[in-house]
Amino acid sequence: MAKYKIFTFGCQMNVHDSEVIAGLLRQLGYEEADDLTEANLLIFNTCCVRENPERKVFGRVGNLQRLKEENPKLIIAICGCMVQQPEQLERIRKELPHVNLVFGTHNIHRLPELLAQVKDTGEQLFEVWDTEGSIVEGLPAARLDGLKAFVNVIYGCTNFCTYCIVPYVRGQERSRKPKAIRREIEGLAAQGYKEVTLLGQNVNAYGKDLDEAVTFADLLRMLDGTGGIERIRFTTSHPRDMSDDLIGAMGDLDTVCEHLHLPLQAGSNRILNRMNRGYTKEQYISLVDRIRKRIPHIALTTDLIVGFPGETEEDFEQTLQVVEEIGPDSAFTFIYSPRPGTVAAKMEDQVPEEVKRDRIYRLIELQNRLSLQRNHSLVGSIQEVLIEGPSQTDPGKYTGRTRGNKLVIFTGPADRGLLMPIRITEAQTWSLHGELMP
Ligand code: SAH
Ligand code: SF4
Ligand code: F3S
Repeated sequence: MAKYKIFTFGCQMNVHDSEVIAGLLRQLGYEEADDLTEANLLIFNTCCVRENPERKVFGRVGNLQRLKEENPKLIIAICGCMVQQPEQLERIRKELPHVNLVFGTHNIHRLPELLAQVKDTGEQLFEVWDTEGSIVEGLPAARLDGLKAFVNVIYGCTNFCTYCIVPYVRGQERSRKPKAIRREIEGLAAQGYKEVTLLGQNVNAYGKDLDEAVTFADLLRMLDGTGGIERIRFTTSHPRDMSDDLIGAMGDLDTVCEHLHLPLQAGSNRILNRMNRGYTKEQYISLVDRIRKRIPHIALTTDLIVGFPGETEEDFEQTLQVVEEIGPDSAFTFIYSPRPGTVAAKMEDQVPEEVKRDRIYRLIELQNRLSLQRNHSLVGSIQEVLIEGPSQTDPGKYTGRTRGNKLVIFTGPADRGLLMPIRITEAQTWSLHGELMP
């Protein structure tokens, strides 16, 4: 029996691409391998948003030379965002000669043909498209969870934030047709899925490239409750494109969760401008005010970068101030990582590593304090929790997520897939504790 193992790096887009890859492989008769040694096919689905995940892939695949010598029939493939960069492709050719197949983000659907070709010829095959084709609908996706699913709504990104590699490796913004999205969610609901997360690098740009006049807010209105689906989330929203209509739709629609991921990136207008983000800190703060007025219990999460080129101590302190003022429920915090080919990588005033490290520690300390405060404010409240099942870490307890996407650990028992009211009794930085309501 042919067996595969996929190693996924990066964001939810990549996680979902790996589900599609697994779906294609299952159609070819492959099964998932329990471990590396019993697999005949290893796939590394890569990310290049920062240097670290790239370094890991070269390390991990480099270490497979021995395994490959012991098992010459083993097929090693690399795909994903990293291989969309010509210089990394060159590096793979030079440093990883034992890799059999490389394919990119735009030709995943070609995997069956590419695999057949590698098997037939025994030769190394690199197929990376530098521009996106049209969207391929109807690909299978082997989702493992059974409860919560990722659904793409828009591919690519055309924002060109100056630090970011994504527009170069994921192509132009391309929206799926509302009908195709609806059909996919109907199918998921019929299979028993309770929650979908709509995916895009900038979901707010949804529909701009379509012939029919449809916005992301319209899409949410079309999808609300589709097929009996209980919860809808989406990520990521760009603050510049967050319309009042969308805020209203989030507030109005029952199945759309009170949860918004709204990356701030930096709190200094000078840095935001150099990042090409298209908003000021004042605009971001007033946007959050409007959102909180309309949806009082919204959980707000964000992304923050420290050490962008030219960031002074004063700039960084403004990030701390804005974060303190907003009080996000949680934040992903990143050290700026220069990405070859982006505008910011060529800026002269790069910030020294030790300064970046000092700043990220200070930022994380602040965010942890704010997360704990936000979670404390929920103690005593009753939250609707989608039950995931027995806890892996707290024996005898159960876990699930609130509509705000917060992890709750509670005394059960309760069946996976149910939506239950849980009274919150205790708060920690990363989780809530509670008890099932009688
Ligand atoms: N489209 C999404 C996700 C982009 S990648 C968005 O716009 O939010 C996720 C996060 O990685 C970004 O929000 C940003 O905070 C961070 N990031 C992107 N490029 C980076 C870089 N070169 N160095 C450090 N962090 C980066
Ligand atoms: Fe990158 Fe900016 Fe696009 Fe997000 S919006 S993917 S940060 S270019
Ligand atoms: Fe990484 Fe590609 Fe996502 S670069 S963050 S996997 S879009």
